[in-house]
Amino acid sequence: MYTNKNFIIETERLGLRQWIDADTGPCIEMNRDPEVMKFFPAIMNELETGAMIKRIHHRFEKSGFGFYAVEEKSTNQFIGFTGFGIPPFESFFTPCIEIGWRLKKEVWGRGYATEAAKACVQFGFEKLSFDRITSFTSVLNINSEKVMQKIGMKKIGEFDHPFLEKENKLCRHVLYESLKRD
Ligand SMILES: CC(C)(COP(=O)(O)OP(=O)(O)OC[C@H]1O[C@@H](n2cnc3c(N)ncnc32)[C@H](O)[C@@H]1OP(=O)(O)O)[C@@H](O)C(=O)NCCC(=O)NCCS
Repeated sequence: MYTNKNFIIETERLGLRQWIDADTGPCIEMNRDPEVMKFFPAIMNELETGAMIKRIHHRFEKSGFGFYAVEEKSTNQFIGFTGFGIPPFESFFTPCIEIGWRLKKEVWGRGYATEAAKACVQFGFEKLSFDRITSFTSVLNINSEKVMQKIGMKKIGEFDHPFLEKENKLCRHVLYESLKRD
């Protein structure tokens, strides 16, 4: 298999790597797509996406992990991100390492999110020494919950996201986790 030295994690069809300047444009496009952002409070404008990428860089500097830029190996194109974050709120399951994913709509339905997330979980346990990886999403976000199930995470409950009003239809979240299997 062709190996790009810049990939931190590599799968059959994808390379997960640090962000480069050329990712900013396609990431802005992805984050302003209402369908991609359907289960978030709002789409993101250019400034907000710039701030998001900055936060991702800071996370890498501070912790040595973060949301990796995902590249499709057959096209060398940025198609989204998958990786790890630390939720910025307190709940019964925090502090924790969260795994998350967001891909541009054009590549949905190919198994890319599952492929990238599975490789991240393995990397997290084996190389980053995580003991527990958590994931959560709105109960309405079936495609994302399906990724959690397909990568072997177990549902441990539901919770109301503390940043959302109880009346907000996105407030209720499913909570999944994976524990390191020694
Ligand atoms: C969540 C998200 C990443 C899922 O993407 P996805 O492409 O549906 O997920 P997968 O990579 O698992 O692909 C699954 C589909 O690919 C199909 N598929 C096609 N070829 C495949 C292959 N070679 N291997 C595996 N699955 C394949 C599967 O049948 C499956 O379709 P189904 O769900 O209809 O059964 C995507 O919907 C997204 O970016 N949403 C917006 C951001 C978001 O909500 N993120 C989560 C916030 S918590």
